[in-house]
Amino acid sequence: MKVSQRVKEVPYSAIRKLTPFADEAKKKGKKIYHLNIGEPDTETPGEFFDAIKNYDTKRLGYAHSKGLVELREATSKYYKDRGVDFDPDDEIVITTGASEALVFSLICVSDLGDKILTCNPFYSNYHTIFRQIGVNPQTFDTHVEDGYKLPDYETILAAVTEETSAILISNPSNPTGAVYTEEEIRRLARVAKERDLFIIADEVYREYVFDNDEFISFAEIEGIEDRLIVLDSISKRFGACGARIGSVASKNKDLMKEVVKLATGRLAAPTIDQIGATKLYDVSTDYFEDVKNEYQRRRDCIYEELSKIDGVKVYPSRGAFYVMPELPVDNTEDFAKWLLTDFDVDGETVMVAPADGFYHDSDAGKKQVRIAFVLNCEDLKKAIRILNLGIIEYNKLKK
Ligand SMILES: Cc1ncc(COP(=O)(O)O)c(C=O)c1O
Repeated sequence: MKVSQRVKEVPYSAIRKLTPFADEAKKKGKKIYHLNIGEPDTETPGEFFDAIKNYDTKRLGYAHSKGLVELREATSKYYKDRGVDFDPDDEIVITTGASEALVFSLICVSDLGDKILTCNPFYSNYHTIFRQIGVNPQTFDTHVEDGYKLPDYETILAAVTEETSAILISNPSNPTGAVYTEEEIRRLARVAKERDLFIIADEVYREYVFDNDEFISFAEIEGIEDRLIVLDSISKRFGACGARIGSVASKNKDLMKEVVKLATGRLAAPTIDQIGATKLYDVSTDYFEDVKNEYQRRRDCIYEELSKIDGVKVYPSRGAFYVMPELPVDNTEDFAKWLLTDFDVDGETVMVAPADGFYHDSDAGKKQVRIAFVLNCEDLKKAIRILNLGIIEYNKLKK
């Protein structure tokens, strides 16, 4: 008996790769500032918990495979309030997080061995899901120097091959914090039309766009309705990662029938979480404003602190809660591990995600790290000062 070759080929999550070293450091009494995981530290609105407490039933049954009608309607209204029309009956399916929405979408648009076009760097769990499904990433590069803007039309077009079936893009971006302009989105849409590709738009961070910039959804671009699939989630929107509720939406009804087929095969997303999620959509828009303002303050803090470090290449993130700077060290994976195993400042250290796992066919990530600014400003400042001292010490040892 042996475990399959294909599971062996699934990479470890880049974000959690160093967790055993962190566990070991904690056992030794070190305090760790976690900048490696993108889990909001903001409170989940009470509406979620109240709805579950008030759910009066003697039997916890399966929900509809497409999701509870009330939640599909609430999701549809959320979109409608933002000028986007998805019918709750046949254009939205509730999933177990955006993660499952992505699995369903990829299965619906690709065959084994197909290629999915995305930008370097990309959300590292895409690697895991690509390997599970049997598709391969294909990438065009974006760069730290300009805050990871998209390259020009010709460069993106040149990355498409006969095997490419879809473009997958996270906007606002995990891992870079880039937010694409309407022009950049239209550029991708033009490539998709030119080469007849689906577009999978992962917009789970759409609430977090800074500096009063406007978020433009792919769903607002005319002429791509039949090729567009929008992934969504309550994980980041409402700080409710543990609820595991997301959705997939498309105006392509044939495609949505296939999504429903897959959804039926896994029976249903969790009923209780859907009950709570439905009520989250009653939360006032002030909630989003307050949370966004807090992340913007943190963005300002982290940018200011990182800019003070000699040799760091950094830019102000435009959205989400990530930044991916380049550090003046030879290998960020070794460095990040060393921070946990061999370094501390008065018993405290910092954990960052080495960026190599966010890239395909590129060494750029070996000099970069992804930082999630999910700590308050005071802790972020402390964490970045520790990182700075770590860089100095590590480079002395390397000489
Ligand atoms: C870009 C992106 N897409 C999808 C997901 C998965 O979200 P969910 O918790 O809804 O599965 C994440 C989670 O971090 C993410 O960053």
